Amino acid sequence: MNFNIAIDGPAGAGKSTTARIVADKLKMTYVDTGAMYRAITLLTIRHNKTNPEDVIKLASEAKIDFKENRIYLNGEDVTDEIRNLAVTEKVSKIAAIPEVRAALTKLQRQIAKNGGVVMDGRDIGTTVLPDAKYKFYLTASVKERACRRYNELISKGYKVTFKQVEKDIIDRDYQDKKRDFSPMAIADDAIIIDTTGKTIDEVVDEIIGCIKKGE
Ligand code: C5P
Repeated sequence: MNFNIAIDGPAGAGKSTTARIVADKLKMTYVDTGAMYRAITLLTIRHNKTNPEDVIKLASEAKIDFKENRIYLNGEDVTDEIRNLAVTEKVSKIAAIPEVRAALTKLQRQIAKNGGVVMDGRDIGTTVLPDAKYKFYLTASVKERACRRYNELISKGYKVTFKQVEKDIIDRDYQDKKRDFSPMAIADDAIIIDTTGKTIDEVVDEIIGCIKKGE
C-alpha cells in the first residue's frame, strides 16, 4: 500500500491497538506518535529539565527510532519506561511546546513520506498528514476509556486506582484539546468511530471495511 492512514483520538479510545492490527493486516508500518512525545518527556525527566528552552534543546538533539514496534531513544529501548505514570502525567505539557511539536512533526512526515504508514496520534489528520488518504477519529466515553486504561495498567503490574486513571484521562483530554498549537481535533474529512461497547476486532473490521470500499 503506498497511501497513508491517520488515526486520531483521545487517550484510551483504542487507537494504538487498532492501528497496529490494521497495519499488520494491510502490511503497512505502524507509527505511534504518542510514544515519540512520551520519549521526549522521559528525556526531560531524566535530565530534570522543565523550562521550555532546555526541553526544546533536548528534543532537537534527541534521536528517535522505531524497530519492530519498539521505540529507541538515543539508541536505548524505552518502550516500557515511557508508559510509566511520571511520563503520563507530564507528557501533555511537553507536547504543548510548539518547537517540540515542530521537531516531531518533521520526523513524522519524513517517516510517512513514501506512504505505507498507519500513524496514530492527536493531530495526524489535521496537521501532520493532512493529505492522508484515509482518516479516522476514534472516541469512546470517558468511563469506558478509563476502564480500559485501568485494566491495561493493572495487568502490567502498575499500582493505580481507577480514580487516578480517570482523572489523568480527563486532564489530558483537556490539555490536548485546549493547547494553542496543533490541538487534538477531528479533521473535516475524518470518519468518526465511537468505540464505546465495541471490541477491537469490530473497530478493525469497520476501518478495513471503509478502506476496501474506498470511502
Ligand atoms: O497516545 P498517547 O496517549 O500515548 O499520547 C501521549 C500524549 O502525547 C498525549 O496525551 C498528547 O499530549 C501527546 N500527543 C500529541 N500529539 C500526538 C500524539 C500524542 O500531542 N500526535
